[in-house]
Amino acid sequence: MRLCFASNNAHKLDEIRPLLPTSVELLSLADIGCEEELPETQDTLEGNARQKAQYVWDHYGVACFADDTGLEVTALNGAPGVYSARYAGPQRLASDNVAKLLRELAGHPDRSANFRTVVALMLPDGEVHEFAGAVAGLITEEVHGTDGFGYDPIFQPTEGDGRTFAQMSLEEKNAISHRARAVAGLVRYLDEIVKE
Ligand code: IMP
Repeated sequence: MRLCFASNNAHKLDEIRPLLPTSVELLSLADIGCEEELPETQDTLEGNARQKAQYVWDHYGVACFADDTGLEVTALNGAPGVYSARYAGPQRLASDNVAKLLRELAGHPDRSANFRTVVALMLPDGEVHEFAGAVAGLITEEVHGTDGFGYDPIFQPTEGDGRTFAQMSLEEKNAISHRARAVAGLVRYLDEIVKE
């Protein structure tokens, strides 16, 4: 089965590739000739994931899935949430987003947060299915580590050993991450429909 992952983020593609069954031929947006930014103008993760998958289906006619992720910080009432990518402005710079979050949380006693991912799968018959995954953690006081992307250097998963996601290998992050958990639901579903 050929399935496009509707994301321009090469890090996400690297994370997801080893999680999918070998029966799935994973295509990137470049593979299907899509070079434009995908629209994500909805105000929920579910809405954005569906919007990106629908866009690829409408314009390229390829079965695909898209993800949308938000970092929900308790002390900020769930912000930046669905606006995580543009938290510090439209340039979507990870270093600016991280710096802003550390400023906002400075001196705050509650540093708990959740990463949440929604994956929307668009099947060749136009049917859409959603899968969700989450991981709880703490926002560190400073950046730690250089692997990963986005908020990884300041996110310390609760079920880890004190390291941030940016201090973990891809395999270690994939064992507990929000995205891997959402993709596990996707894989279970794909396994079922391939068997049918
Ligand atoms: P999106 O899903 O690409 O829209 O991601 C929203 C924001 O969350 C962006 O700033 C990403 O860099 C960040 N983000 C998404 N997934 C992760 C992750 O696994 N680790 C750290 N940051 C992430």
